[in-house]
Amino acid sequence: MQDLYYADYIELDTILNSQHPKSFESLEEGNDEMLFIIIHQVYELWFKQILFELDLVRHIFIRDRINDNSDDLSRVVQKLKRIGKILELINQQVSVLETMTALDFLEFRNVLLPASGFQSKQFRLIEAKLGLKMEQRYKKEYYKYTRRGSLSEADLREVDQAENESTLKDLIVRWLERMPYLDEQYWQEYKQSTPVDHGDRHKFWADYRNAYKTSLSGNEADRLAEFDKVFFETGRGNVPPAALRAALFITLYRNLPIFHLPFELLNTLSEIDELLSNWRYRHFMMVRRMIGLRVGTGGTSGAGYLEGTVSQHYAFREITEVATFLIERSKRPVLPDALKEKVSFNV
Ligand code: HEM
Repeated sequence: MQDLYYADYIELDTILNSQHPKSFESLEEGNDEMLFIIIHQVYELWFKQILFELDLVRHIFIRDRINDNSDDLSRVVQKLKRIGKILELINQQVSVLETMTALDFLEFRNVLLPASGFQSKQFRLIEAKLGLKMEQRYKKEYYKYTRRGSLSEADLREVDQAENESTLKDLIVRWLERMPYLDEQYWQEYKQSTPVDHGDRHKFWADYRNAYKTSLSGNEADRLAEFDKVFFETGRGNVPPAALRAALFITLYRNLPIFHLPFELLNTLSEIDELLSNWRYRHFMMVRRMIGLRVGTGGTSGAGYLEGTVSQHYAFREITEVATFLIERSKRPVLPDALKEKVSFNV
């Protein structure tokens, strides 16, 4: 058998013969279009790796049961942390492109019309598979495939399909809802400290609500009604109350060994949201320097549109903002020993 050759193994010819600037032919007239093409290609390669890891994580969760005691959860956390590292890297890459000036960009900007990163199907798939929905998107009218500069009909269909399959957010919510930490068998010894009867509300939550109430300052009194709404009535966004209760519980008692990995998982989701939004912000700032207030090649309002996505496009906002409802460590209800010792690792 013939030895495998490096260039063949990684199909280098295909990759290195895929840069075809449209604004110049010879090196003498060369400009930054080469950098512009290469940096987009590098991004798309990293997007591909992110999608690969994301699909793997979703696949682990999609199986009926995820065994928290096995390698499953640590693999999930490891893959999500890797996605975080890639996002850190692609954040740094913005500064390479920033060595190009606004005038350098104008030398070739018109040749790419109406193409734009807006049409990056892989970027849209990452957003959709994480859990961002079309109805949450800023200026969703930009996505109509009939609009010049939008995604093609086929690409949009794929994004739509990804949104409607189990997204990472859907899967995390289902997993959170299955947490068995409030099963009565672990709470028989628990002494409720709050006399208030909260109907069918678990005694732990009756006590916690009271501790939270005491922790609020005068100008935050309306937070208590918010607490009831988020954890016992409507939930928040598209996350139901039971999942948010589990997220809060894990965050509160993350020092317990059984919650180490679940907490790391939730924390990594918030980190991914944050790193993606850092990228959106850096890209927006770069765009403002590059084209000022001009419209984008993809026909949106440009920097104004991108600024809107920074404040609106988060997949795990509800989970991150559970922090609103934390209290001091020393004020937390003390958990019954039965729960600490016996709670099942299998959820
Ligand atoms: C000179 C450099 C760049 C400029 C001036 C620029 C400009 C823009 C503008 C104006 C938009 C809004 C859509 C439009 O009207 O075109 C946009 C969207 C986008 N660009 Fe860039 N871009 C640049 C570099 C990059 C790079 C290197 C990437 C990496 C893949 C990228 C990825 C994206 C993505 C994913 C979007 C969609 C963002 C969203 O809708 O949330 N851009 N870009």
